[in-house]
Amino acid sequence: MSEVLKAFEEELQSKNFKGYWQNQQGDVKREPVPSFDSCMWKGKDLFAAMEKAGDVVGLDVSFRRVIQMWNPALKNGTTRTLVLNLQMLKPGENALSHRHMAGAIRFILKGHGTRLIVEGESIEIGEGDFVTTPSWTWHDHENRGETMMWLDGLDAPLVRLLETDFHEPDPRRKQTVTKPEGYTQATVGALRPAWLKQDSIQPPAFCYKWADTERALSKVGEQPGDPYDGIVLDYANPLTGGPTLPTMACQIHMLRGSEKTKSHRHTASVIYHVWRGSGVSYVGDKRFEWEQGDSFVVPLWQNHRHDNTSKDPAIFFVMSDKPLMDAIGHYREEATA
Ligand SMILES: [Fe+2]
Ligand SMILES: [Fe+2]
Repeated sequence: MSEVLKAFEEELQSKNFKGYWQNQQGDVKREPVPSFDSCMWKGKDLFAAMEKAGDVVGLDVSFRRVIQMWNPALKNGTTRTLVLNLQMLKPGENALSHRHMAGAIRFILKGHGTRLIVEGESIEIGEGDFVTTPSWTWHDHENRGETMMWLDGLDAPLVRLLETDFHEPDPRRKQTVTKPEGYTQATVGALRPAWLKQDSIQPPAFCYKWADTERALSKVGEQPGDPYDGIVLDYANPLTGGPTLPTMACQIHMLRGSEKTKSHRHTASVIYHVWRGSGVSYVGDKRFEWEQGDSFVVPLWQNHRHDNTSKDPAIFFVMSDKPLMDAIGHYREEATA
């Protein structure tokens, strides 16, 4: 570099300027290259860790007893935008009320007898149920039954990136139930109160019961489905039919016995949790052999395909940041060999 150019760059820097030529040519990529890799978390390790946390981490130590499926390439989170956690609540415990900018979902893995209170509505949850707590909704949990575990999915990494977080502990500690049981279910369907004005961006907090999911799977299970994901059910915004939350799409995928999917890649990153069954997924140059309880992540623009190696159906709970990519026109998808 010439002395003249060096001096010029120093002058620019002293005034908080930067020349375009100062960025290395190699910085410009022809296509997305994720900075984090695919990764798998074994369920048996996760549940063992949570059992231990149940012994040594009280809710006096941690506001929520949560273990994150941490992608080691990232400072925090499972992908750049989403995090998948496991939460445990023991009998008699209350997880105190708060609200925050991050939108969250729960997929219930084990147990019954806990109620989630969201925006004054008390929701009884059981295995396979899926519940949303959209951005800025009050939520607390109380366990009056057996030990429960559920997946907690949040868009917290995105919120951290955007630096938009508001976070408010509830001075009441516990919400008062103000709505009758089944209130939201009864007000957002095909028949709905005409005077209720709903948020046009955030969906209402909603519970999708496993019995309904199972019924839907049984009704559509013989259809061709999707070549890359098998039978796919969207947890749709009950008011608009749009994605689960503005920042994340949650789905149930079912691979029929011995079903093999085709390979593709897309600009959404996807987190899979194995709810039922066993098989193998190929992600980039990795091979993940999975069984019930395992989770794995497919970073954006990595080739992936799935193979149900068993004769029984395999079911994934899935979350991705596709709605975010759609909203800003960044979603691309292509078939791969
Ligand atoms: Fe929360
Ligand atoms: Fe995919």
